[in-house]
Amino acid sequence: MCGIVGYTGHHEAAPLLLEGLRRLEYRGYDSAGVAVHDGKATRIVRAEGKLSRLEEQLGKTPVTGSCGIGHTRWATHGRPSEHNAHPHRQGKVSVVHNGIIENHLQLRSRLQEQGRRFDSDTDSEIFAHLIEQEVERHGSDLRLAVARALDGVKGTWAICVVHDDHPGEIVAARNNAPLLLGLGGEANAAPGADGENFVASDVAAMLSHTRRVVDLFDGDTALVTRRGISVFDAEGEQVQRSERYIDWSPVAAEKQGYRHFMLKEIHEQPRVISDTLAGRVEMDRADVNLDGLDLSVGSLKRLTILACGTSWHAGLAGKYMIEQLARIPVEVDLASEFRYRDPIVKDGDLVIAISQSGETADTLAALQEARRLGARSLAICNVVGSSIARASEHVIYTHAGPEISVASTKAFTSQLTMLTLLAIYLGKRTGHLDEARIRTLLEGLSALPEHATNVLGQLAAMQVVARRYMNARDFLYLGRGLGYPVALEGALKLKEVSYVHAEGYASGELKHGPIALVDEELPVVGIALAGPGYDKVVSNLEEVRARGGKIIALGTVGDSHIAGLADDVILLPSVNEVLQPILATIPLQLLAYHIAVLKGTDVDQPRNLAKSVTVE
Ligand code: G6P
Repeated sequence: MCGIVGYTGHHEAAPLLLEGLRRLEYRGYDSAGVAVHDGKATRIVRAEGKLSRLEEQLGKTPVTGSCGIGHTRWATHGRPSEHNAHPHRQGKVSVVHNGIIENHLQLRSRLQEQGRRFDSDTDSEIFAHLIEQEVERHGSDLRLAVARALDGVKGTWAICVVHDDHPGEIVAARNNAPLLLGLGGEANAAPGADGENFVASDVAAMLSHTRRVVDLFDGDTALVTRRGISVFDAEGEQVQRSERYIDWSPVAAEKQGYRHFMLKEIHEQPRVISDTLAGRVEMDRADVNLDGLDLSVGSLKRLTILACGTSWHAGLAGKYMIEQLARIPVEVDLASEFRYRDPIVKDGDLVIAISQSGETADTLAALQEARRLGARSLAICNVVGSSIARASEHVIYTHAGPEISVASTKAFTSQLTMLTLLAIYLGKRTGHLDEARIRTLLEGLSALPEHATNVLGQLAAMQVVARRYMNARDFLYLGRGLGYPVALEGALKLKEVSYVHAEGYASGELKHGPIALVDEELPVVGIALAGPGYDKVVSNLEEVRARGGKIIALGTVGDSHIAGLADDVILLPSVNEVLQPILATIPLQLLAYHIAVLKGTDVDQPRNLAKSVTVE
């Protein structure tokens, strides 16, 4: 998501920080800032928008000094603006943060009760307050003060801290968000030598200065000075973390070694699911907290989901989930159809606009039209402060982080995760779900990141399948129930990145047309996961088999029948039916990706497609 860079040494820090931040631009950001210690105090300069704006600001108010921290922010709490940009300052403390503080509401109100005032809408500013309080107690040891401040915080963080009274020192801490230290050429040289050291959330930020890095572990805090680094683990014991040498090119580093952003984003999905769940699962109360959302569910009569492309597929899955778990009728509309159809909107209607970018022209216009006709509105977006988020009464964010590849992958799984949370939220309030059922669903959701990691382990198997079918002219994807939107999304991914014609069908429709296409040349991808629709999908696949079609099946671990029926089978962990689409999508993304790579297409920017379609 956001980017962090820190430098302490003997050169001017500001240009080095800017250069590091520029290397992180590919991640996407909406504001940026630096804090530089001039020997006496820390000076902060921040700007909304691109780094050129920050550079302009630095031109007007230059900051000098050889120790500082910098940040590019991709908004998660609080809209993009200068006052929400990092570094955040409290007293003599300046801090930058990547990640999410899950208990920010409790911490913020406790700090406010103690008379503390907040300058921003971010969760990150809380760190500055907590650290300031601890510095008052452990003034001479900044690292210890930071470690103590982190004690009561729940969530994920990579942070860097500088303090007016600690020139030349940067304290870094990591918990479930990447952060590494870079050792300058003369690092660890004798005291007084001209050493320098770096901190960054991403190796790309420091690669032109050093290739010697030390990875911090979760729970670590570190003191970084120009003379060296000292790392402490979660128990407060000083530890030696090993050094490694990076031999990537700067471009490879931006992709963290992955060949394409699409593959990197596919691999980010376990983390994205966790981030979307973070702070929203309330196991004790058997409930879901959607950032304080209050929808007056009692008066809801009908939901209409509006979206385009991959987000529309997420919406179709949302219909199945919400109708099943909350028993509220849901319609799903293509935004481009809804806006020109003279749609019927009644009292008790809620429209839900789903959009990764939050800028899709048709979705925005459909949402505006629904509101004009009197519907209540909720947006599910990935980009904070985007047009759709702003045009809606309520908004919840998916926390997938910036998606660079045009073909959407991690945004889709984060939308599915969010829609599951929403379905549980609604099910609790309509009284359809009891506490035991909610707990089972929440436990299932919390286990998903680990299952997703296991599914990603099937990469090599998907490469073999891709090689076998890469020359097929058409593909058919079949699924039933929640497997149907998965089939549509699998077919769309293949079309988008490999330019192979593919159709997604509800498997019950096979006999109403697509079966005419089946011959020995046609690969049919069958989503045959354990559940109520299983037998029916299997009989459809038998019909394909009887006509010589090739079958690639997604099944559930332990299903020997499907293994006997299909030419290739990918077995997925057994999870609750509503959670299946999140896992089932991953192998289909990998299949599309590998076929595209084998065909040599432009995977991240396929021909004719745009990431964000801001015109009709
Ligand atoms: C474009 C993108 C798709 C995306 C669709 C909707 O077509 O290429 O990946 O699914 O727009 O975008 P949204 O940002 O509204 O989710």
